[in-house]
Amino acid sequence: MTSVRAISTPAIIGLTALAALGVVAYGYGEFGGWNAEGAGAAARYTARFSFPIFVAAWSASALATLWPGGWRSVMVRRRRAIGLSFAAAHFVHLAALLVGVFVFAAQPSAKTIYGGGFTYLLIAAMALTSNNWSVRKLGLRNWKMLHTIGGLAIAIVFAVSYLGRLDEKAWLAIPALTLLGSAALLKLLAWMKKRAPEAA
Ligand code: HEM
Repeated sequence: MTSVRAISTPAIIGLTALAALGVVAYGYGEFGGWNAEGAGAAARYTARFSFPIFVAAWSASALATLWPGGWRSVMVRRRRAIGLSFAAAHFVHLAALLVGVFVFAAQPSAKTIYGGGFTYLLIAAMALTSNNWSVRKLGLRNWKMLHTIGGLAIAIVFAVSYLGRLDEKAWLAIPALTLLGSAALLKLLAWMKKRAPEAA
């Protein structure tokens, strides 16, 4: 049985992108094929698919700081693969929503276009700098700043998206917001642990 440790990063990204495309096909299939409802479902389901991958990437180092060892150490060692897999899955969300907009005339709000669009620029910058060459070129401090601000922006867009669905889809929004809130709490606790006197 090949363990996660052994699967290469490109393979993990490729498999995730393929699975996200499968989610797109499911969305269209659920609404009887190539139509506006199918496009809407494909956009929704691809965001739901990429969300837990984002939470795993965003909370990996906090989990390993608070509870070192075991699967937490594997997750933090493979964090780049997890982060790039999120980017791959979420660019499938972008493709799905662009089909909705340009083929089926969906009209996202200006807030979604500018807020989501800016966040996609950050996701692209994070993906393009997820390599040792960029860390050296940017310097660790600048690299960390980009990935911290990017991670926060993505978390905020997910939080706003699911807060906006609390009325119509509480069954979905409450677990999603709980998961995101737990990840934010873990990051805060890990930050406090790193700055605790005995840690110095
Ligand atoms: C240009 C940028 C973006 C546009 C135009 C856009 C558009 C859309 C559309 C059309 C839907 C389906 C809405 C529905 O049928 O209910 C959707 C859902 C969603 N999008 Fe995006 N999106 C963008 C960027 C993003 C980004 C950057 C994120 C997260 C970081 C995100 C997270 C979500 C979430 C969480 C949902 C709801 C999924 C669900 O129902 O569970 N979107 N988006």
